[in-house]
Amino acid sequence: MLHKTLKDFPENFFWGASTSAYQVEGAALEDGKGPSCQDIKEIPEGTSDLSVSVDHYHHFKEDIALMAEMGFKSYRFSISWTRILPEGTGKVNQQGVDFYNQLIDECLKYDIEPIVTMFHFDMPAALDARGSWSKRESIDWFAEFATILFKEFGDRVKYWLTINEQNMLTLVGPVIGTLHVPEGTTNLTREIYQQNHHQLVAQAKAMQICHEMLPDAKIGPAPNISLVYAASSKPEDVLASQNLNAIRNWLYLDAAVYGVYNSLVWAYLEEQDATPEVTADDVATMRAGKPDFIGFNYYNTATVAASDGTESMDPGADQQTQRGEAGFYRGVDNPNLPKTEFGWEIDPMGFRATMREMYSRYRLPMLVTENGLGAYDTLTEDGKVHDQYRINYLRAHIEQIQLAISDGVEMLGYNPWSAIDLISTHEGIKKRYGFIYVDRDEFDLKTLKRYRKDSFHWYKKVIASNGQDLTD
Ligand code: BG6
Repeated sequence: MLHKTLKDFPENFFWGASTSAYQVEGAALEDGKGPSCQDIKEIPEGTSDLSVSVDHYHHFKEDIALMAEMGFKSYRFSISWTRILPEGTGKVNQQGVDFYNQLIDECLKYDIEPIVTMFHFDMPAALDARGSWSKRESIDWFAEFATILFKEFGDRVKYWLTINEQNMLTLVGPVIGTLHVPEGTTNLTREIYQQNHHQLVAQAKAMQICHEMLPDAKIGPAPNISLVYAASSKPEDVLASQNLNAIRNWLYLDAAVYGVYNSLVWAYLEEQDATPEVTADDVATMRAGKPDFIGFNYYNTATVAASDGTESMDPGADQQTQRGEAGFYRGVDNPNLPKTEFGWEIDPMGFRATMREMYSRYRLPMLVTENGLGAYDTLTEDGKVHDQYRINYLRAHIEQIQLAISDGVEMLGYNPWSAIDLISTHEGIKKRYGFIYVDRDEFDLKTLKRYRKDSFHWYKKVIASNGQDLTD
């Protein structure tokens, strides 16, 4: 659709950026924090562990001051479950509560809206040992954690996100370091989708509790949504794109918004004897939990062709690279799209297409909770980082948000990944995303000093003009 005039970004648009606890905080076992699955996982070779990260735990005041200098209206961060409940359930660690109270207050001091993710890839190690999401009790564990968060922070936190990228936990759990495989598992797909089911019910329960305890707060899911294109106009390729759209995207949003399983996904699971056990109570809980908005992470689209069921395929190297499943879809490169240095396709126009599609399916306001470019940045001798490539990437995506708004899509904000450099899920600190550079290497912590990248100065101008000035 060509627009003669573009609509403006809404006045209270949440311009900000995101992080997650285990990727920025460090202080992994400090002040009473218990270990999470990220602290005990096998670290990919050649990459840093998560013990110090970028030490946001000790630098948060300085970091938030820098975010305020950029003019942030929002900061999306996650709360580490084991900082609050070192064992995952039971005794609360007051020092953990104090830390997040200070973090939230520091945001509010600068009129930065705290947007809190309740769970971002960091299952308590103690709960992992008790069976993690494979256990039905995990629904109650999460509800207990959620209730504590709402009680401690709900007077100041108005925007909540339940589970970050539940679809990636399900599809690429081993890459993220979260998949728990109980001994004796015979059908791994069924096991994974049973865990996924417990997460769906836990999320619905958390949304219900939130609405009961905090009637003015808003809560939503935060999946990673990539619209899936058909590799050609062949009808069989279009069917394959519907398969992956359902498995990768709509399963999570149909469940969160409508409280039902996507019918194509159910058929896909039946085909593999992998349908989860769903009780009548689960059905009722899923239907009762309603989000107020949809948070979503967007990095790129996916492209697939038909699979005749005979090919052997990669189930997916990571969140954004191609995947395939024999008989359902076969991931292919999209020849129209460039790639980042880390092999992720770049598709700003697909961002608009994704927003349009989601809005027409769910009709809820949407909040971008992640989007960004992982790159090798270089700190110059005079303390600069010339990341024009990141500016180009972000600009192209922000333009598409304005086009989507002009198409009639309701957008609440843009919180790209990431506010500050952090440790990537599996590619270390060398894959940087931040507006703020942190002086450390993979294994040398150096000074941990913060530097403003070129994108920092650029984003400040973007925010000050409410998205009108995107020039260099
Ligand atoms: C998302 C996650 O998948 O993408 C983040 O929510 C992650 O935790 C981000 O860091 C970028 O991915 P990666 O693998 O480059 O760190």
